[in-house]
Amino acid sequence: MEHISVLLNEAIDSLGIKPDGIYVDATLGRAGHSSKILEKIPNGHLYCFDKDETAIKESQEKLTRIASNFTIIHSDFSHLKEELEKLGVSQVDGILADLGVSSPQFDDPSRGFSYRYEARLDMRMDQSQSLDAYYVINNYEVGRLAKIISDYGEDKDAYRIAKAIEKQRSLQPIVTTFDLVEIIKKAKSPKELAKKGHPAKQTFQAIRIEVNDEKGALEALLRDGPGLLKKDGRLSIITFMSLDDRLVKKAYQNLTVIEGDRKGFILPEDIKTPDYHLLTKKPILPSLEEEKANPRSASAKLRTLVRD
Ligand SMILES: C[S@@+](CC[C@H](N)C(=O)[O-])C[C@H]1O[C@@H](n2cnc3c(N)ncnc32)[C@H](O)[C@@H]1O
Repeated sequence: MEHISVLLNEAIDSLGIKPDGIYVDATLGRAGHSSKILEKIPNGHLYCFDKDETAIKESQEKLTRIASNFTIIHSDFSHLKEELEKLGVSQVDGILADLGVSSPQFDDPSRGFSYRYEARLDMRMDQSQSLDAYYVINNYEVGRLAKIISDYGEDKDAYRIAKAIEKQRSLQPIVTTFDLVEIIKKAKSPKELAKKGHPAKQTFQAIRIEVNDEKGALEALLRDGPGLLKKDGRLSIITFMSLDDRLVKKAYQNLTVIEGDRKGFILPEDIKTPDYHLLTKKPILPSLEEEKANPRSASAKLRTLVRD
């Protein structure tokens, strides 16, 4: 399936693009956002990151049709700072990250991301990485598995599911997505099974986050991204899970509020004012039309940090 870019115009507007600016798309995907950025920077440069070779190959062709002032970097965006440094770039005008998996990754049965298709347990965004879902499911100690399913999947039955995985794999390895779906269905309590949505959704999400170290990557972006911005530079992040949104919100808050909320008070001169502000106090959400046209966008939230 084609990837439909989420909050496309909103994300581009949030970057306040300058025609000669230096921009980073941390999550190239199918180049939806990157194409728009590239069209707006005739005298600038765009650096794009993705760790999925298929995404890079397809997007390379797409971007080449627009212009040549871009560089694609096959790397996890957790190495954003070092990778840009290698290219002599220490400050940029804007960084965009549109987190998570793309539709082509999710809808390609062979990638093993989806509980809807039978495939070997894989879930790697980066096909050259060795850790995959098969390893996590068949080797992680039960307590660690339960914590991952609870923390990243927010599944109330995390421990029951982890125990069921442990029991099943002691008989024979758990090989496919459907094997895992069956184990989850049997392990879940009737109360949880009665809830809306696929019973395996949360566990699959949790395992995917672990395999791709999505939390570690977001933390690295929130640690290094703000410091890479020039004055008036923007860091825009689109999240799809409350877990990620909470991390972004908290990191932005820490950078924009000094010593608690001092709104309405005149600050003493010796107190440093923050170096950043929020572009909008509330996150930007998709319009109803976008939600209708692309249900995947429903949970999206865009937050932008601006350097003063
Ligand atoms: C939601 S898609 C981005 C879609 C893109 N904005 C578009 O409009 O086509 C996310 C992409 O980021 C990549 N990705 C996710 N986490 C990454 C990370 N930590 N480092 C590098 N690439 C990552 C995925 O492989 C996927 O291709």
